[in-house]
Amino acid sequence: MFGTHYRIERKSIMLAVAIMVVASIGGLIEIAPLFTIDDTVESDPKMRVYTPLELAGRNIYIREGCYACHSQMIRTLQDEVERYGPYSLAVESKYDHPMLWGSKRTGPDLARLGGKYSDQWHTAHLKNPRDVVPQSIMPRYNWLSESQLQTKYLGDDLRALRAVGVPYTDAMIENATADAVAQASPDDDTAGLVKRYGEATQIRSFDGDKGTVSEMDALVAYLQVLGKLSDAAHQPPAPTK
Ligand code: HEC
Repeated sequence: MFGTHYRIERKSIMLAVAIMVVASIGGLIEIAPLFTIDDTVESDPKMRVYTPLELAGRNIYIREGCYACHSQMIRTLQDEVERYGPYSLAVESKYDHPMLWGSKRTGPDLARLGGKYSDQWHTAHLKNPRDVVPQSIMPRYNWLSESQLQTKYLGDDLRALRAVGVPYTDAMIENATADAVAQASPDDDTAGLVKRYGEATQIRSFDGDKGTVSEMDALVAYLQVLGKLSDAAHQPPAPTK
């Protein structure tokens, strides 16, 4: 075996060809599954998009590095499904740019978090995790309720996402700032927001303070919609062709 290697090494062209063959095996293994992507990725025409407020919350989630301790992808393993619920489907992160699947789990997976706890629980937990989970090692994010949410550039965020395939309409982009404020202000006129994002849109003061729209409002709105944008994972599996 080493004899063959020695001979190849002395012929530069043969060595170059051999290197290309070996390197392309790795490439093929990564690329080949993409040829069947249309058959393997489910479709869900009823999939909703993040509202501007939820998107702002997602940006805060990324800014604060929550993904360093929390994954958002339930694996197809029995213990995971028993603990967290139906395993994650590719279509569920279709509009996630960047996706936040993650592999580091210092804390639990959050893919199906929406509706698991009340807004009050989340607000208290984020202000000081030890107040609700005494043994928690999660850091506190107590400043989020005091910092006012920057909503000015949300339209630009939506426009950027549209460029990579998220179906935001012109009306959604135009009204992004107003819609973000409306979602956290249940007493205001929210008809436009519901018209653009659907009846299932959760409208309320997420941090319990109706006066201002804080970063806490946005983050909790985002946490409460995790796993709720698509029903695909809860449907019986489609018959295979
Ligand atoms: C240093 C690691 C770490 C970071 C960073 C972190 N968490 Fe956690 N998180 C944990 C741990 C550990 C738990 C489990 C104990 C608890 O519930 O507090 C947890 C629990 C949670 C839970 C409860 C989940 C459930 O199903 O019970 C939520 C929600 C949560 N974290 C959200 C966040 C958000 C939002 C951020 C960013 C603002 C964040 N975490 C940042 C470690 C972390």
